[in-house]
Amino acid sequence: MTEQTPVTKTNAVKVPTLPDAQNVTEVKHYTDRLFSFKCTRPASLRFRSGEFVMIGLMGDPDPKTNRQKPLLRAYSIASPSWDEELEFYSIKVQDGPLTSKLQHIKSGDEIILRPKPVGTLVHDALLPGKRIWFFATGPGFAPFASLLRDPQTYEDYEEIIITHTCREVGELTYSRNIIASLKDDELLNEVIGDGFWKKIKYYPTTTRETSVKMGRITDLINSGAAYNDLGVAPLNPDNDRAMICGNLAFNLELKDMLEAAGLEEGANSKPAQYVVEKAFLD
Ligand code: A2P
Repeated sequence: MTEQTPVTKTNAVKVPTLPDAQNVTEVKHYTDRLFSFKCTRPASLRFRSGEFVMIGLMGDPDPKTNRQKPLLRAYSIASPSWDEELEFYSIKVQDGPLTSKLQHIKSGDEIILRPKPVGTLVHDALLPGKRIWFFATGPGFAPFASLLRDPQTYEDYEEIIITHTCREVGELTYSRNIIASLKDDELLNEVIGDGFWKKIKYYPTTTRETSVKMGRITDLINSGAAYNDLGVAPLNPDNDRAMICGNLAFNLELKDMLEAAGLEEGANSKPAQYVVEKAFLD
């Protein structure tokens, strides 16, 4: 008979079973098309606000070999670079290979996260300016959720304009909540300066449900309505910098508008006046 060693209480650490596994710590659903979630952050992961990583789940087993392969997509990190956890904001596509499954994750589940951040929506890709425009549609708000909580945004610019165009009012909840939370964020008010959030002008619009401001941001800029509503001067390459993140048609249309206004596209290797990224969706 072997003597049993007494059982001592230990802090249970969940052993990851997936490659590059991280544990989901929180999930919030906003509408039947949008949700956000948080997960643990790999200790080695450093990223610049606005960058994305590949995340996902294991795919279904191959019918012939029964082997499973990771199913990964690029996701902008929505949390700021100083945060202990990582946050993501996602669309739910009912027949999407990844998001049809990802939308069912719960706290305690594991996701795969490849810790290699990249992206163009970073301050390093822009030349100094006075005002920055963040243009988003739907889940394209994610990188701006990160950048709006990054002290550098407020150090670099006198004014920050964030536009968010969605189909329905409920799809604006996430951006509304993030922006409202800045007022009461003691850490950011202390680090950046009390009332830093007053530099932000938030311009939410809807296209398919009645709200205070209706219309696509592209149309509202072209008509001049957005400038009037915000009380700001039109886009000009001397003062304005911009970042675009939304669906493909939106990205292309806005890119053309910025070029027509005289702004040039920048990159990490060659900073200029605006940068663009598409939301990588199913
Ligand atoms: P609309 O309802 O007129 O198509 P989606 O959910 O399909 O990605 O769209 C998100 C938002 O982006 C919607 O409000 C949609 O307006 C708007 N949108 C789509 N294409 C464009 C575009 N080319 N320019 C501006 N807004 C766009």
